[in-house]
Amino acid sequence: MRRTLLWLIPMLCLWLVPAFADDSSFPDTPGQDPVQSGEQIYMQICQGCHMPAGQGAVGAGHYPALGGDAALAAWKYPVLTVLGGRHGMPPFGLPATSLALQELRTVHLSDAQIANVVNYIRTSFGNHYPDMVSEAQVAALPHPGRR
Ligand code: HEC
Repeated sequence: MRRTLLWLIPMLCLWLVPAFADDSSFPDTPGQDPVQSGEQIYMQICQGCHMPAGQGAVGAGHYPALGGDAALAAWKYPVLTVLGGRHGMPPFGLPATSLALQELRTVHLSDAQIANVVNYIRTSFGNHYPDMVSEAQVAALPHPGRR
């Protein structure tokens, strides 16, 4: 009886790990619900802190406004912020299989998704930065947890 129960522990872990890895990746592959547009990603992930119109919020924390934010002028800054997080903001560039995702209450965004959402915030809420960020430009920057 005792032996049977001990067997269950590794079995449970094997069953839990893939389930958890699935949940932690924001869907971006065909076949899964393809959430690709910067606007969709913003609405599902970023607006919870930065608010729907990018106006930010001050309450339990300070969530900077993205509309009229001069820090978005150079594309690398918002890309690095989304990839690696910043103070109260979680990182979105951790590998999809990273166990830290759940601990940090975050999800994995692909380089293409990060390019899209950064292009969205740099051209919304009154922002008009004309240079678009590409997936390759995001891929070339340091990612947390990448060797
Ligand atoms: C859990 C809350 C939270 C979520 C979700 C979140 N952010 Fe943030 N974000 C913050 C906080 C807090 C800061 C301020 C960090 C600091 O102290 O410098 C910030 C800062 C930023 C900055 C830098 C602004 C500046 O002027 O320095 C950008 C750009 C940004 N976030 C974009 C995004 C995008 C895009 C998403 C969605 C992919 C997102 N954030 C999701 C909380 C969040």
